[in-house]
Amino acid sequence: MNDGRLTMLIHVLADKPSKVAPIRAIVEPRHRLVPIRDGQKAVLGRDDVVLIDFDLRREACVSEVREFLHEAGSVRHRIFVIDRNSHSLIVQAHALGATSTLLRPLDRDDVLHRLSLLDLAAPRSGRHAPVLTDLAGSAAIFASMFSAVLDGTPIALADARQATEQIINSVTQKGLTAWLDDVRKYHESTFQHCLLVSGIAVGFATGLGFASADVYRLGLAATLHDVGKANIPLAILDKPSRLGADEERVMREHPVLGFDALKAVAGVDAEVLDAVRHHHEYLDGSGYPDALTAADIPDIVRMLTISDIFAALIEQRPYRPPLSRQKAYDMLSEMGGKLEPALVRAFRPVALAKGQNTDAGSK
Ligand SMILES: [Fe+2]
Ligand SMILES: [Fe+2]
Repeated sequence: MNDGRLTMLIHVLADKPSKVAPIRAIVEPRHRLVPIRDGQKAVLGRDDVVLIDFDLRREACVSEVREFLHEAGSVRHRIFVIDRNSHSLIVQAHALGATSTLLRPLDRDDVLHRLSLLDLAAPRSGRHAPVLTDLAGSAAIFASMFSAVLDGTPIALADARQATEQIINSVTQKGLTAWLDDVRKYHESTFQHCLLVSGIAVGFATGLGFASADVYRLGLAATLHDVGKANIPLAILDKPSRLGADEERVMREHPVLGFDALKAVAGVDAEVLDAVRHHHEYLDGSGYPDALTAADIPDIVRMLTISDIFAALIEQRPYRPPLSRQKAYDMLSEMGGKLEPALVRAFRPVALAKGQNTDAGSK
C-alpha cells in the first residue's frame, strides 16, 4: 500500500466544504484524508493528524475550533492552514493549540514534505508499523469508507479487508467481550455500531467452528453492512429520539445505498453484496428492502442480521440506555418467526460468553 513510509490518517476540519477537495488532491494517495462532517464527532487516534482550515479572523470560527480541539483530546498533530503569512493569524493558531501551520497558497511538495517530517518526529515505539493497526485504526478505516461513500468515490476494498482482519485477530486473540468493552469505551454512534457488529459476527462464526474463509466472509459483510448510512442525513442518523415515519423511510434506504456503493467495487463477492443489501430482511417477509422470505435468505445474511440486532440492543442510544447482554439475547429470542430459532440458540453462548460484563450500562 505504501513505499515504506507511514500512511497517515489526516482529518480535515474546514469552515467551508469547498476547502476539502484541494487538500485531498494534495495529500492523497500518499495519505488518507477524512473530512470531519459538520456536527459530527470525529473518531481520532492519538497518532492521527488534524488539519484545520478555518478563517481565524472570525470569532465564531475561533470558538468552534477551540471547542473541537478540546473534544479531540490527545490527538498529537494539529496543523492549521493559514490564509496568508499573517503574524497575527499564526499566533492565533498556536494559541489554539496548533503544532504547526501551512500557508496558502498550498504547495504540494511543501505540504508532503512537512507531513513527512511529522513521521520522522513521531516514531511509534521504534516499530516500523503502519498507523492503522489497532482499534483506532479500524475505526479510522470505517471513517474513511463512509467518507468515500459520501463523496461518491469508490470504497477501498483493501481497507475494508484490513479492518476485518484486525477485528478477527482481536476477537480470536482477546475474545469478544474484550472487543465489545473496548469499542464501547472509545467510540460512538455509527462507527461504534459497525465495529460492534463486526466483532459479534466474527465471534458468532468462530463460535460455530466456521472455516477461516467463512469467518472472514461474514466479518467482511459485517464491516461493510451499514456503509450506506453515509448517505443518510446526520439529523436522522444521530436523532436523539425515535424516528418519525418519514425519517424511518429515509433510514430504510441505507441497505440499498450501501449495495449500490459496493456493487461497482471490483472484488466484492456476491454473497457479501447480498448480505449488505439484505441484513434487515426477516424470514417471515416483514423486513426490507425486498421483503424476502426464508427461502431467499442465506445463512450468512441470517447470521449478520442476528449480529446486527444484538449489537444495536447493547449500544447506548440517545433515547434509551444500553441493554445487558442477557436482556438483549432474551429480546432476540422473542422475535419469533423473524429469525431462525436454531441460529438464535447457537448464538446464545456467543451472546452470553464467559467473562462478559452483563451490566452493559456500566461503560
Ligand atoms: Fe443496517
Ligand atoms: Fe447495522
